[in-house]
Formats: sequence, C-alpha cells, structure tokens
Amino acid sequence: MSPTSPVTATSPVPAAAEPPKADSIPAAATDEVVVLDFGGQYSQLIARRVRECGVFSELLPHHVGAAEVLRRRPKGVILSGGPASVYEQDAPPLERELLELGVPVLGICYGMQLLALELGGTVEGAEVGEFGRSQLTVTEPGRLLAGTPPEQTCWMSHRDTVFAPPPGFTALASSTASPVAAFESVERGVYGIQFHPEVVHTPHGQQVLTNFLEDVCGCDRSWSPTSVIEEQIERIRAQVGDGRVICGLSGGVDSSVAALLVHRAIGDRLTCVFVDHGLMRKNEGAQVIAAFRDHFRVPLVPVDASERFLARLKGVSDPEQKRKRIGAEFIRVFEEEADKLGATAKAGGHVKFLVQGTLYSDVIESGGGTGAATIKSHHNVGGLPEDLEFELVEPLRALFKDEVRAVGAELGLPEKFVWRQPFPGPGLAIRIVGGEATRERLEVLREADSILQEEIRRAGLYRELWQSFCVLPDIRTVGVQGDARTYGNVIVIRAVTSDDAMTADWARLPYDLLEQIASRMINEIRPVGRVVLDITSKPPGTIEWE
Ligand code: XMP
Repeated sequence: MSPTSPVTATSPVPAAAEPPKADSIPAAATDEVVVLDFGGQYSQLIARRVRECGVFSELLPHHVGAAEVLRRRPKGVILSGGPASVYEQDAPPLERELLELGVPVLGICYGMQLLALELGGTVEGAEVGEFGRSQLTVTEPGRLLAGTPPEQTCWMSHRDTVFAPPPGFTALASSTASPVAAFESVERGVYGIQFHPEVVHTPHGQQVLTNFLEDVCGCDRSWSPTSVIEEQIERIRAQVGDGRVICGLSGGVDSSVAALLVHRAIGDRLTCVFVDHGLMRKNEGAQVIAAFRDHFRVPLVPVDASERFLARLKGVSDPEQKRKRIGAEFIRVFEEEADKLGATAKAGGHVKFLVQGTLYSDVIESGGGTGAATIKSHHNVGGLPEDLEFELVEPLRALFKDEVRAVGAELGLPEKFVWRQPFPGPGLAIRIVGGEATRERLEVLREADSILQEEIRRAGLYRELWQSFCVLPDIRTVGVQGDARTYGNVIVIRAVTSDDAMTADWARLPYDLLEQIASRMINEIRPVGRVVLDITSKPPGTIEWE
C-alpha cells in the first residue's frame, strides 16, 4: 500500500476575523517566533515546521497588529504566503511597525513581495506564473541560504515576482521565472524568499528555516511538545486553585491526554465521566476504564447509559436526527453526573471547571480567538454547550495533533490510546446508514469493525490510516452459503489516508488483506452475506457515510 499524504492536503487557513488574545495561548517558557497568516495554503505548515526546529511558534491573523505580536516577545516574525497580488485593491497590507519591533522578519512568497514593495524594491505581475517544482540558483548564500547547495530544487507558487531587491539588500538567488528568488539585509534584519521552505518539495527548506531561527533570530531551539508538560501543570494549578474539575472522557487521544495532564496537576480533584452510550466499538468502554481508573488511578465515573440512548434512537433513521438526539442525551447524562458530583464534592464545593481537549488547529480555525466561543462540537466529547456554566480548562490549546500524541506518550498513555484513530462522538449510530440503530444491528457492525481493526493492526497498517471502519447500510442482499440461499447484511469497508480530515484519499489496502477481512466477516458473523469496499475520496465523498 502506498498511502498518499500530499502536501496539498494541508488545509488552507482562512484569514481570521477577530484578533486573538495573547492569554489564550500559553506563553512558552522557550523562545517564540510568530507566523503572520496572509491566507496562504501552507501557513499552518510554516508554524509546524518552526516547531519541528525546536522553536515555539504561533500562527496569528495578519491584521492582529504589531502590539499583539510584541506581547509574545517573539525572537522573530515570519510573514506567510497568500493568494492575493500585492497590487490588488484589498490586498492584505504590511504594517510598517512590524519592521520596527527590533526582531528579524522573514517574508515567504507573498510576504516577501510585501517586504520588497514596502522597502523600495520592484515587484511586477508576471504573465506566466511559477507553480510547482522550480530550479533555484544560489548566487550568494548570505546568512539565509548558508549551507545549501548552489543548485537546488524548490517549490514555488506565485504570479507576482520580485525583479529588484530593495536598495541596500543583497539578492541571494534566482530561478527560471524569478530574477530575485531570495534577498536579505542583515543590517535591517529583513529577509525574503519567494519559494516555500515549509513543503517537502523544497529539500533544503528546513535548513533555510533553521538558518533564520538559529543564526538570524538567535533562537534557543529547546522547545518540544513535551516541554509544555511542566508549564501546563503550573498553569492548570494556577487556574484551578483548590477547585474541582470534571472531564468528559471518550478515550480519544485529545480528551485522554488532557485528562492525564490535569490529573498530574491537581490529582483527585479531577473526576472523569465516561458515558457509554452503547454506540462504542467492541471492548472500548472496558479499555478506557482499565487504563484510566485501574492503571492511572484517575477518579472515573463510568455511566452505562446505553438503554437511554437506544430508547432515544428508536425509529430514527435520519442522520441529523440521530446526531441531535445523541448530543442532547449526552448533555443530559453529563449534567446529571456533574450535579451528583457537585452534591458530593467535599473541598471546594461544586464543580466549577470543565476539561476540554481543544487543539491548536481548532484555535486557528476559529480565528485564533480565546475562551468558550471556540468550542467546536466535533472536538468535545458530546458537543457540550457553553451554557453548562463551567470555566474551561484547555491544556492542549497550543498543540497540534501529532504534538498531543507526543505528550500522551511522554505521560505514559498506552500506545493504543496515543495512536487511536478518530471516532465520531455519535459513534456507531451514524454508521448504520439509512436505518435505525438497533441493538442487533449495532452488534453486527461492532463485530465487523472488530475484525477489520484486528486485521489492519495485524498487517501493520493501523497507524498509516487516518481512519478505518465499517458501515452497515440498511439493505439486504442475496447470497448462497452451503447450498442454501441467504438474504444477509452488507458490510462496507471504509479506509482512508488523510492529514487533517479536510481531504482524504481511499486507502489502497492490499487485495490479500481485503480477502482475509471479507472472508472472516462472512464466516464469523452469521447475518453478514456480502462485503464491499468504498473507493471514494474526499472530496467528492465525505469520510463518514452520513
Ligand atoms: P466527514 O465525514 O465530514 O468527517 O468527512 C470528517 C471527520 O469528522 C468525523 N465526524 C464526526 N465527529 N461527530 C464527531 O465527533 C460527528 O457527528 C462527526 N461526523 C464526522 C469523521 O469521523 C472524520 O474524522
């Protein structure tokens, strides 16, 4: 199998409407570089690459203002690429004060063109753009391109082109379509590159970023995802004081890591509530309970609410109805448990705080804003609403998913949880398509899913896949088994590769593996008479079926 992870799968980051508040993001104890987002497809990736170099990085909308940038006390600022032409009327402008912060500034693509225009260079719109792989010729490495070869490939994506650097600047490189593909002025602390160092198609990109971060900005490259653990523990303690905290634990990596961090910080003043809505996968509930209550000794209230949920789903086949009912029931169960906890709380009275596994990608998607407004229903266990009147504790707000996994591993979270594929809040109910989620159908789907997971793990492919699961459509098909005619269920195998679920490619699972999975499902699960494979990518399909 060759799962694709095209660099283009990185989602475009829309320029945000509201300026963020610095206190929404933990100030790293280590050096920080701010990336200003001019709407480029790869802006988020720039921030991730900077972090991979060991320097904490935040992505902020381009219009936040110099004061907001300065509050972070960054060691450097990076201006991202963007889709606009610098000559368009509404093109996002460069704030002059950014160049007077006293820290180096690196412009990438559109960011470079803005710098060139502002400082007196020549930028012109070319008839022919330069998109994709390009050949870069380094004429003068300077500080920025030091240690990279004279001839190298790089990734370009632009139409406007810098024809002359600003006065006093050194042109460092050119490409076929870019007379000035890199420039710098060490005196002014201003640097620019037309190509994208953050994408894998620029093989020396990481070196260029390292040069900027280490040699130009003087960053101490000591940040790592796990370095936030101690800092977060302090922050959680400061926020919570001697209060009590509740956490809706689903067993997904985000809520699991968030719960473990909070438990480290405040111990048994945290209580996790695990609501088993009867729509979980095989043994899922038992695994969560075993890991958190028995192994980590986190106070955990397991609530078996499957009867309630199945009753609410009776006769419901519309997917939105299913989602709504499950969400509403989840809140009801959670509230009841929170009330019970409040009634029995000893020190600190009622439970005031709620742990959320909000990630940095959620923060960026919602405009980099702060607080409760950023709650996204997909990213908290059951779509808990704001009016639950808890103060949120969100220890993962600064981290990307892979960084959360690293923190989880560092905290001793078992691999099974660290690498768990995403699982939707409404669970198996939305994988019984076009029909009611009955106990019998759930049982068939759960068994099929269990076989799929087992075989995929056995083949060593579990981690390579973004998600792998089964769907049970509400239809029956004819078959023949042991000379007898059958009229059985259909199981659909869905397996996708993806970077972020915004786009996905159907996974090319090996034929032998598919055969093994199909024959096990038909032999071991009596009602299953046929197994099919979904070969739809996203777009045009979605990952889930409904
Ligand atoms: P789609 O189907 O939109 O899914 O391509 C994208 C990602 O979101 C997950 N998903 C959900 N997660 N509640 C959730 O918590 C939901 O209702 C829901 N619907 C889809 C899906 O599994 C995939 O990871």
